[in-house]
Amino acid sequence: MDLDRLTARSAEIADTETTQWLARTTASKALYERAVKSLPGGVVSNFQAGDPYPVYLEHGKGSTVTDVDGNAYVDFHGGFGVNVVGHAHPKIAEAIRKAADDAIHFAVTSPNTVALGEAICERFNAEQVRFVNSGTEATMDAIRVARAATGRDKIIKMEGSYHGHHDSVLFSVVPEADVLDLRHNVGDTPTGWYTTQPTSKGIPKALWDTTIVVPFNDAEAVRQAFDDNAGEIAAVILEPVMMNIGIVVPADGYLQALKDACEASGAVLIFDEVKCGGTIAYGGAAERFGVQPHLAAWAKAIGGGSTIGAFGGDGAIMEYVTKGAAQQGTFNGNPLSSAIGLAALTQVLTRDAYDHLGKLGTLLAEGCNRAIAEAGLPAHTVDLGAKGCVSYRATPLTNYRDFLETHTEIYWASYPWMVNRGIFMTPGDEEQWTISVQHTEDDIQRYIDAFGEFCQELSS
Ligand SMILES: Cc1ncc(COP(=O)(O)O)c(C=O)c1O
Repeated sequence: MDLDRLTARSAEIADTETTQWLARTTASKALYERAVKSLPGGVVSNFQAGDPYPVYLEHGKGSTVTDVDGNAYVDFHGGFGVNVVGHAHPKIAEAIRKAADDAIHFAVTSPNTVALGEAICERFNAEQVRFVNSGTEATMDAIRVARAATGRDKIIKMEGSYHGHHDSVLFSVVPEADVLDLRHNVGDTPTGWYTTQPTSKGIPKALWDTTIVVPFNDAEAVRQAFDDNAGEIAAVILEPVMMNIGIVVPADGYLQALKDACEASGAVLIFDEVKCGGTIAYGGAAERFGVQPHLAAWAKAIGGGSTIGAFGGDGAIMEYVTKGAAQQGTFNGNPLSSAIGLAALTQVLTRDAYDHLGKLGTLLAEGCNRAIAEAGLPAHTVDLGAKGCVSYRATPLTNYRDFLETHTEIYWASYPWMVNRGIFMTPGDEEQWTISVQHTEDDIQRYIDAFGEFCQELSS
């Protein structure tokens, strides 16, 4: 289809559908007007903000969520990948009720916390684990422990990747295209080197030189960074499958090449499995792609909806938390979160559950692919268990620069279209769908039908 025509149709659809969406969400608008007085932006995380206001949700049951206007949706947002157990799962509800009677908080380790530690070690093939309260803390502590174990300061991260909101990793997270024109080639700097761009105000300048940015799926760039910073790199941190620009899968051999490069240089390979850990396979990306990192960070789905994160891996590295690397937190592994996480990992997210998630995911991706092909759109799908997405680019992405070439305008037409047809999505083409164990084939068909109609409308 002609690209100018596609852009024009996308704008028309976005306009019509947004007008309808605004008319259906007057209670969200009113709540926003109230919320914005006490909460900057009317929300509690910048990722929850909306234009002109976000949808505010009130209920979740099974695979369905309901907003404050009473609109019901099939939930494919999944709380940014947390809700693989779905909403109000009976096993999770039971664990919460029991914790209410037994213990919510001690700041003393409890038996359920120990059991959850064992469950995580078994599932992700880790020798030792420590708990935290979010994905941000998990990557922060993993990096600290890697620095402590190596006695080095620098880390390597991938351009475009998000690892939470602590200072060391808030560099070159989805940088704007015009910022990237600063890619430089001066003096001793090797050709094609990638610059480190702060993603937030308030990041100390002193940290810029400690975070080295390279493109995903380019093992040579990592080897080069090791050569250029000999004996200075503590860790390479990456999402083994990038999940904040749609989904970018690792090329064959890439993850193993990074592990080899780390081992050759005495550095630590850290997988950020915050998003992929509980979603794309029972044992996360390490299992799915067959490469075991030295350390990994987990959060989101592993907590079954509770506030939890964890990091762990090789015992010889983890023991640095008892040898001077600060690792603490009042709420770490609290009884409530541990009880919920334990129920999620041992009773709900079993190996059988991943078979179910895999079947539904493939059904959804195949349905979307058919619609894309029939309408002749420049798009493709990625299918990884509970996670998947439509990327508005004809060919798969290999790194962040490819994401800059996606047809964002089509996504922004699809978003209000799907929401108006009862499909709750993450607002932004950098995200992806999350399927829960409580989703059914009917839920998936509903998505496929709405998406198919969208593709037809776009190409009409
Ligand atoms: C890959 C990845 N790492 C870390 C984080 C940070 O997790 P949290 O929001 O729990 O701090 C996120 C959050 O989306 C993430 O996607």
